[in-house]
Amino acid sequence: MQRIGVMTSGGDAPGMNAAIRAVVRKAVFHGIEVMGIRRGFNGFIEGDMVLLHSGSVGGIIQRGGTVLFSARSPEFTTATGRKKAWESVLRFGLQGLVAIGGDGTFHGVRAFHREYGLPVVCIPATIDNDIAGTDYAIGFDTAVNNVVEAIDKIKDTATSHERTFVIEVMGRSTGHIALAAGLAGGAESILIPERPVNIDEVCARLIRGQRRGKEHSIIIVAEGVASALEMGLAIKERTGFDTKVTILGHLQRGGTPSAFDRNLASILGYRAVEMLMNGAGLEMVGWLRGETVSHELENVLAQPRPADSGMYQMADILSM
Ligand code: F6P
Repeated sequence: MQRIGVMTSGGDAPGMNAAIRAVVRKAVFHGIEVMGIRRGFNGFIEGDMVLLHSGSVGGIIQRGGTVLFSARSPEFTTATGRKKAWESVLRFGLQGLVAIGGDGTFHGVRAFHREYGLPVVCIPATIDNDIAGTDYAIGFDTAVNNVVEAIDKIKDTATSHERTFVIEVMGRSTGHIALAAGLAGGAESILIPERPVNIDEVCARLIRGQRRGKEHSIIIVAEGVASALEMGLAIKERTGFDTKVTILGHLQRGGTPSAFDRNLASILGYRAVEMLMNGAGLEMVGWLRGETVSHELENVLAQPRPADSGMYQMADILSM
């Protein structure tokens, strides 16, 4: 194997840079050249690539976002777009690809691999943590820490005014961020798409809390459940409590990656190159129970990854 490509695609996730760095340095160590594909599948289609050396990835391990840029590419969902990408592969002599991203990225490379057979190893990187076959995706830990930091700050003002806050977090159609951050942030209620939401129960809990002398209430709502604005209005109407809404939005995705995400990214990037060198076809490297694992990408994509119901029950009891 003489030359591979590395790409980040889909929503950026803190720690992607550490993964790029690990891929480049591990490959260079074995005498393999690495082309950095810029702007996700768009750069793949257009042949927007740069040769990366060990020095090119210096000083990026602590940076959020991705130095290779990212995109969601409608063109790559078409056979014509993927044909152009294959022409780029031939032009640049790529013999393998490391694709760093989430579900959308994985579906894209699967279609590409089926058509052209390029060996691909995927690295899970999404704040949503909704990828099967890995306990953690790169970026999740940092995003949860970002949310917890925000909850702590909101609690200060919520207590001062004895208010109820509804905080909306990302996570697409899963509640991993909501659950982990709600548990760590001591939220009164956590609303996730994996569980039916009973607004009357949420309000009854708020009223009980107020009677017991709670000075504030925090409700975390995952974006896949409902808009926090609607939720806030419904709560205000039913309880009459002074209720405010905060939508955390993209600040969850930004900032310095946590040490956990940097290390996870370094380990997965290192291992992804080994998998390509060992003849991987279409695989994903994951982190399960403290060890790296490799999976056929087909198996990963065939399984949903809902938030853990045991953890939900625990958070529910602890928040009473
Ligand atoms: O997949 C990561 C994510 O941040 C989701 O949590 C969110 O729904 C989505 O991306 C937002 O996408 P965009 O940045 O394209 O608006």
